Amino acid sequence: MSKLGTYETVKLEHENGITFVVMNRPEKRNAMSPQLHFDMNDALDDCIMDDDTKVVVLTGAGPAFCAGQDIKEFFRASDKDPKVRLKNRRASHGWRWEKLSKFPKPTIAMINGYCFGGAFTQVSACDLAIAADEAVFGLSEVNWGIIPGGIVSWNVVNVLGFRDAMWYAVTGETFTGKEAAAIKFVNKSVPLADLRATTMKLALALKEKSPVAYRYTRDAIRSTRGMTVEQAADYLNAKSDALKTGDPEKNREKAMTQFLDEKSFKPGLGNFKR
Ligand code: COA
Repeated sequence: MSKLGTYETVKLEHENGITFVVMNRPEKRNAMSPQLHFDMNDALDDCIMDDDTKVVVLTGAGPAFCAGQDIKEFFRASDKDPKVRLKNRRASHGWRWEKLSKFPKPTIAMINGYCFGGAFTQVSACDLAIAADEAVFGLSEVNWGIIPGGIVSWNVVNVLGFRDAMWYAVTGETFTGKEAAAIKFVNKSVPLADLRATTMKLALALKEKSPVAYRYTRDAIRSTRGMTVEQAADYLNAKSDALKTGDPEKNREKAMTQFLDEKSFKPGLGNFKR
């Protein structure tokens, strides 16, 4: 039974095990108001609890993915109230980084249009990202006198090369989805007309992976970046051991049987049958 709810500024669309989490303020280009941050925290929690949601795709309604923080409702409205600013900041960081970067199910950012400023964080937090060729990206903060704050500066130096991160941060120049793919801010870009079908195909492929192995793999790639080689070896050995006993579906054994005994699949060339 689906546990997906309804929200003021977020829309959930469910299709074949894939839940599209849609930032839904198209008239404001999906700029992130405090309400959107609160709704996204609730919506993502609902997606975790919903057994029918196997993969989450984050996208935007209308012509934008997300025009960054809402300059009126997120910035100006709390300029004189540090307590409100703190509350909103915590909600904003909560879903865009803490929840999404360690989400217990696969996540894909589907960038359908404008993607500015603070929106770079949720793109970086998703496991994979596909953009429309026509999408427009920009670190526009410098254009109006602020810095890529929250954790945007940290995101771009981690995901992009140093020269590209610096270029776009200090010039505020926009770049297209095609360019975003070339500098690897996203995995790939496709024409807007093909974006949903391409993303759906990827989501359905991720849905077939062993869920625990997928999650541990994603965590391994994220977590080992900041470790020494000794720490990484310890962490990865511990995770591998945990996987042997911690998978309720026993997929490791199933896959070994299919390869070694039944000879029904080749791990190098595709996924085992769950
Ligand atoms: N904060 C608050 N409101 C925003 C917004 C934002 N980040 N981005 C767009 N909006 C609002 C506009 O003020 C406008 O509101 P109105 O209809 O009440 O006047 C509405 O959304 C539509 O925006 P508009 O500029 O008319 O649309 P557009 O399609 O011509 O341009 C953008 C879209 C995204 C290029 C443009 O709105 C823009 O530059 N937004 C700011 C992007 C930005 O720098 N974000 C970083 C914030 S840290």
